[in-house]
Amino acid sequence: MSFYKTLVRPLLFQLNAETAHHFAVEGCRWASVVPGIIHVTRLCLESHDPVLGTEVAGLRFRHPIGLAAGWDKSGRALRMLDAMGLGAIEIGSVSARSSQGNPKPRLFRLPEEHAVIVNYGLPNEGADAVASRVASYRGRVPIGINIVKTNDGPHAPACDADEILSDYERSARLLHSHADYLMLNLSCPNAKGGRSFFAEPGNIERLLQRLQPMQLQVPVFLKLAPHDEPAQLDSLLMQCDRFEFVRGFCFNLPSTKPKMSVAPESLVDKPGAVAGRPVASLINGCIAELYRRMDRERYAIIGAGGVFTAQDAYDKIRLGASFVQIYTAMIYEGPAITKRICLGLAELLKRDGHSSVTQAVGSAHE
Ligand SMILES: Cc1cc2nc3c(=O)[nH]c(=O)nc-3n(C[C@H](O)[C@H](O)[C@H](O)COP(=O)(O)O)c2cc1C
Repeated sequence: MSFYKTLVRPLLFQLNAETAHHFAVEGCRWASVVPGIIHVTRLCLESHDPVLGTEVAGLRFRHPIGLAAGWDKSGRALRMLDAMGLGAIEIGSVSARSSQGNPKPRLFRLPEEHAVIVNYGLPNEGADAVASRVASYRGRVPIGINIVKTNDGPHAPACDADEILSDYERSARLLHSHADYLMLNLSCPNAKGGRSFFAEPGNIERLLQRLQPMQLQVPVFLKLAPHDEPAQLDSLLMQCDRFEFVRGFCFNLPSTKPKMSVAPESLVDKPGAVAGRPVASLINGCIAELYRRMDRERYAIIGAGGVFTAQDAYDKIRLGASFVQIYTAMIYEGPAITKRICLGLAELLKRDGHSSVTQAVGSAHE
């Protein structure tokens, strides 16, 4: 049993899920100023195996397991996260203006399912605050910044296309020079003004047109609603084609609840999207279909959704993901999960005769 599972998790799980999340982020933020903590954390949680070193969209990663967006929404805990042995850290989603997100309660645990229901609605401190915080940060791990349209709350009037596009443009302008990559979240399942707008043909292209004059020096990834319909994926790829800065994709959570067997109905009926184990197979199907259709020389897939073990990560890599992200596993298993996945993944790669992660990417299609 790990230190996290015996001591930390029981304490955090006494609190409601959002309060526990808040304490975890602030705990990391404040712990990082205690002398020696960063060093000890590194010693305990970092792992090094050359077989895991990889390159995606021109970025070098020590290994292919990173933190997904939504844990450190405003880049408050970067120093500690940097010491936790992650392959990359994606902060956000950050919006042009700060947002309170949706009314509380808005995060629920489903321990029997290894899942959570999330209805945060993108609370964050806004692009100005995040830009000034991350500007002074010099870490060892690549940082992705995930950008989204500001959520003005459930009762805000609908905004027009220009407002939506300007919101993304402003955040990208403020944040791109502080990031190793940008992730455009076009698919938040629980806020107005995003997912449905980008489902309309041509709107992704309009956004990319807005960003083009910035001459972005960092690769841009698009976080999409999960779908595996060939026509929709082909339309997406056509819209991205002429924008060279677009280097890949990630799938967000489905807005409808996946099949779950044991979670109590009272919880399953809560508003929000399910993250964790129950979404893994749906997202794996999307990764496989996109990998079949995309130009693999140019694009890479970042796979997130229900990764708890080395085998889960390996499955996503074999289906076509070049990099894998975790979130819900951090809640249930704690930060040592990254090292455990890395050790297991290195063994799986070697068992199957792969000398690198890149060699294994898409190998299920051969
Ligand atoms: C509590 C919570 C908050 C999240 N917030 C965001 C967010 O702000 N932006 C985003 O792009 N994804 C967000 N996500 C989605 C994750 O980045 C990830 O895509 C998803 O949780 C699947 O990974 P998992 O099954 O390992 O949790 C959030 C997920 C959770 C659980």
